[in-house]
Formats: sequence, C-alpha cells, structure tokens
Amino acid sequence: MKEKIRQIEESAEKELVNSKNAKELDDLRIKYLGKKGELTQVLRGMKDLSAEERPIIGGIVNKLRDKLEQIIKEKEQQFEIEKLQEKIENEKIDITLPSTKVKRGSKHPLNRVIEDIEDLFVSMGYDVVGGPELETDEYCFERLNLPKDHPARDMQDSFYITSEYLLRTQTSSVQARVMESNEEKTPIRIICPGKTYRREDDATHSHQFNQVEGLVIDENITLAHLKGTLEVFVRRMLGEKSKLRFRPSYFPFTEPSYEVDVSCFKCGGSGCNLCKQTGWIEILGAGMVHPNVLKMNGYNPEKYGGFAFGTGLDRLAMFRYGITDMRYLYKNDVRFLNQFSQFER
Ligand code: DAH
Repeated sequence: MKEKIRQIEESAEKELVNSKNAKELDDLRIKYLGKKGELTQVLRGMKDLSAEERPIIGGIVNKLRDKLEQIIKEKEQQFEIEKLQEKIENEKIDITLPSTKVKRGSKHPLNRVIEDIEDLFVSMGYDVVGGPELETDEYCFERLNLPKDHPARDMQDSFYITSEYLLRTQTSSVQARVMESNEEKTPIRIICPGKTYRREDDATHSHQFNQVEGLVIDENITLAHLKGTLEVFVRRMLGEKSKLRFRPSYFPFTEPSYEVDVSCFKCGGSGCNLCKQTGWIEILGAGMVHPNVLKMNGYNPEKYGGFAFGTGLDRLAMFRYGITDMRYLYKNDVRFLNQFSQFER
C-alpha cells in the first residue's frame, strides 16, 4: 500500500509541476483527487486494512492530498499571472504609430467675415443685436420712412407672406426696432448682422443673402463720424490701402444718403475686370439718419442725430476670399469650405 502511495506521489507531483495550462491541471486534479481519482481509490481500499495500519496509511494519504492541493493552488496562481501577462501583451498600444487623421471642419467664410466685423465694432463700443427674419411691413418699411405707396419700395423685390408679414429685405428693419425698444431714448451704437431675402437669383445675387447694419444715435453726430467709421471698417475688411468715395444717392431712411465705393483692391485703382475698368467698387449704402425716422421711433430730432450704414456680407466675403459665384456660399460643398481653413480669419 505504502509503495502504491509513493508511486502516486511521484507521478502526481511530476505531472502537476509539468502541467502547461489550467485545463491540464484540472484534468490532473480529477485524475488524482477526483471521485474516481487514484488517491481516492487508495482511501477506499483502506477498509481492507487492519485497525493498526488504517490511521497510519490514512495520515500518509491525507498529507499527500494536502501536498498535491498545495501544488495545484500554486500552479493555478502561476497560470493566472501568465494569462494576465499575455492579455497585457496582446492589448499593448503602440503610441508611436501615426494616428488615423481626424477630419476637421472649417469656419464658413461668411462666419469668418461676420466674426471679424463683430470683433471690430465691439472694440469700438458697439453692441451686436439681432432681429426677426420674418418681419412686419411696419418695421421693414413704414418706420423707415417708406409709407405703403412709396415708389422706393420697388427697389426691393420682397417675399410677402401675408399683406402685413414679409421676409425682411434689409437689416435696416432692426434700426426701427432698436430705436423703438430703447425706452429711455439714450444714445445707440449697434451693428446687426443677419439674413435678408429678395426675389433674385443669379451669380451675384441670391434670394437669401446677408447684410450687416450699423446705427449710431447721439448728440452732435456728423458726417465726419460716419466717414471715419466706414474707413476703419472697410480697411479692416479689404486692406489698409483702401480709399473710400462717397457718391450722393437716395435711401428713404437717411438724408443725405450715399453710396460708398472702395478703391479696387485687385488693381489698386488703375482699372481691371473686377472694377470694370473704373478703379472703384460699390460696397455700401449709408447716410445721416432721416429726422422722420428718429421722430417715428421716439427720438427727438432737435436733440439727436445719427448715422447708419448697411452692406452685403456675401459680397464682402467674395471680395475678401476671391470667390467668383455667390451661390458657392450656400451649397455647403466641403471641397469649397475646406479651402478656408488656411485663413486666420
Ligand atoms: N438697406 C439698404 C439696402 O439694403 C442699405 C442701406 C443704405 C442701409 C443706407 C443703411 C443706410 O443703413 O443708411 O440696400
């Protein structure tokens, strides 16, 4: 019996120590310590032993079982560690590999222009305000000195929704809103960039376009303030060398009114295809706020005066970035839009 136990000990120890994985180890546990395992068989055979031998053999078998269980436990731990190490090895990330490129969007050229204008005017103490795109006839025209039968309404082909509501044809509508809503009738300095709509659609006009409006109301405002302000504005937009030219014009809400030209930034004024050989490009409408407009919106024209200007942002963006067709601005073609990530603004 003792010899049999010794043989089991020898082979079990050897096999357990040499086992290569958890499966092998488990099979060996069954082989030796399982219900029908070799050591269990020995215990079963003890009933045939004499009363003196039984405790002795029993003691040896129990000791051996403890020993084998200890070996199994150690091997299990070893396999556990090996498994973890293998996992770490397999999941290792090589941080020196080049990454897959993340595609980044770029700011729309119109937004670049708008943000730049806002930065400039905020730095000069202006507020940036908004207003509704679905506007009433009252704010879009009447409060700007354009009564219903006024011929100048024909200048703008409007999208009427009802007889009273239309899509605003000009951001000038915000002038009336700002003046009216300022209950204390204190000085005003605002710009309003935003969408505007007219019934037009060709390479230089779109049915939806963008304007920025400027309005200053205060005491002792003169044409010199308007000229100085527009000069700062245009030079920031189109280059420091830009010169301005004021041509008398007509807008119902300003008196006097001007159309403002900038010296051609492409040829420098000598004449080219962009300026149609004139050296000048029209960019702005402007003027001194009409006394009727002040009065209609609650300001005393005896005390207050002001200037206003409005310009198309789409054209400004086109000039600034050399875009030849306005409709590109509205197609959202990424091949077009991505070209602007190279610009700082
Ligand atoms: N609202 C005019 C337009 O859309 C532009 C304009 C002209 C705005 C003169 C003004 C202004 O504020 O004073 O054609």
